[in-house]
Amino acid sequence: MHNETQHITKLILDAANRAREETSDEKEPQLTQPAEWPIECKIGQGLEGAIACETKIGYVNGKKGWLIYQGHDIFDLCAHATYEEVSYLLLHGKLPTTGELADYKRTLARYRMLPKTIRRLTSYPFESMLPMSALRLGTNLMRQAWTSLDKEDARPDTETAISTDEDTVPSDVESTGTALPLVSDVPRDPKNSLRSEQGASLDACCHLVAGVGAITASISRLRNDRLPIEPDPDLGHAANLLYMMTGRRPSPEEERVMDVALILHADHGMNASTFAAMVVASTLADFYFSVGAGIGALSGPLHGGANEEVLKMLKEIGSEDRVPDWFAKARAQKRKIMGFGHRVYKAYDPRARILGPLAAYLAEKTPSAQPLLRTAKALENQVVGTLGEEKKIFPNVDFYSGLVYHCLGIPPEMFTPIFAVSRVAGWTARVREYVQSNRIFRPRAVYTGDFHKKYVPISDR
Ligand code: COA
Repeated sequence: MHNETQHITKLILDAANRAREETSDEKEPQLTQPAEWPIECKIGQGLEGAIACETKIGYVNGKKGWLIYQGHDIFDLCAHATYEEVSYLLLHGKLPTTGELADYKRTLARYRMLPKTIRRLTSYPFESMLPMSALRLGTNLMRQAWTSLDKEDARPDTETAISTDEDTVPSDVESTGTALPLVSDVPRDPKNSLRSEQGASLDACCHLVAGVGAITASISRLRNDRLPIEPDPDLGHAANLLYMMTGRRPSPEEERVMDVALILHADHGMNASTFAAMVVASTLADFYFSVGAGIGALSGPLHGGANEEVLKMLKEIGSEDRVPDWFAKARAQKRKIMGFGHRVYKAYDPRARILGPLAAYLAEKTPSAQPLLRTAKALENQVVGTLGEEKKIFPNVDFYSGLVYHCLGIPPEMFTPIFAVSRVAGWTARVREYVQSNRIFRPRAVYTGDFHKKYVPISDR
């Protein structure tokens, strides 16, 4: 880790200390023992409280404000690790050795290069597409490339670099190869699960971890009438993401903050997008379709779309002195305040504990962020002082992430795709884990409709 970023590490360690002090009185976690099926549990609407599976990937304790990835505390990981180490940890169940990390980084560098996929992507009308919809399309195109023996194209090759002039881009977009079973990450015959299939499944996960970042960066450029640029093999995942979006190599500080933001979003229990990805995988569809489902679920304003909404809301409020009036009106209208509340956390979200100080730190150097930060702080005080006391509603991860991204020069419409860049590690890790002992998801609904309605011919209705 660079010396220039030690103050960022200190901010994280300070946040960790505050978190430990404030939640040490809470009871130890429950439900961390192997399950004995069938399980009796109390289920609320929206499957609240339902237990869907066992996992070792990650753990959230909403009362203590804990977030754990494969046994490691989020504060430790943010203070000391990179996104590469953390995504490796999620996918492999352990932190990598130096050699394993070097191999993994080489794999990601290879898969970050997606010339054919990105060339195909450029033929779609980006200006009229939502970035999340373009991202979902991009992962479909990655699937197409992967299944059509196109893998060679994914290797770094300066000859076919995508930063070439548009006119030189060949138009050979039709796939020619034979479909590979590589995407059958799921052993279709559980009795015949081959080691190579396991390896292939991991390979598809790495392809997606690297590729979602590359596609997101390309979407950002294409939306701004710029051609995508190829990744720099010497840069890590976070730095490459910023570089491929902006065309500028980030400072060590910017890279570190991006790394921390990616680590913080990598996994989060059975959230809606993870569950969506797992439901699709449980039908034995492949990783690409599963990740596509995750992207769709993440796009909604109640999930990944909230950070973009937070920035809009802060702008709408305008200034810190307008917070009390705005908040009173919002309460009267029973309006949900974006960036607050969580299905699981009934304590301060540990991710917001880290992102809050990072946003404040970055805002010192970003004049346009300062009024937004002051408004955010005033709103936080107002909400925590009222809804925090009454309903245990605190800032969540999205409240400060938008401000952090704003300070890094990322446009708001890219906030949710960046969430996906990170969460793809959690989606793929959990899908991979679940399908090892797969059972198709099939909850029930309570039917409250009629039983004996008569069919009326259309001419009589
Ligand atoms: N602002 C105001 N009130 C909120 C609130 C918010 N952001 N979040 C929850 N509440 C209130 C609800 O109105 C409800 O009050 P009631 O019991 O008087 O009816 C109570 O808290 C429980 O909320 P509920 O909607 O049942 O919680 P949930 O677990 O279903 O929803 C969220 C969780 C995250 C969807 C919800 O908190 C929300 O919409 N937050 C804003 C969007 C957001 O930031 N999403 C990102 C999540 S990481």
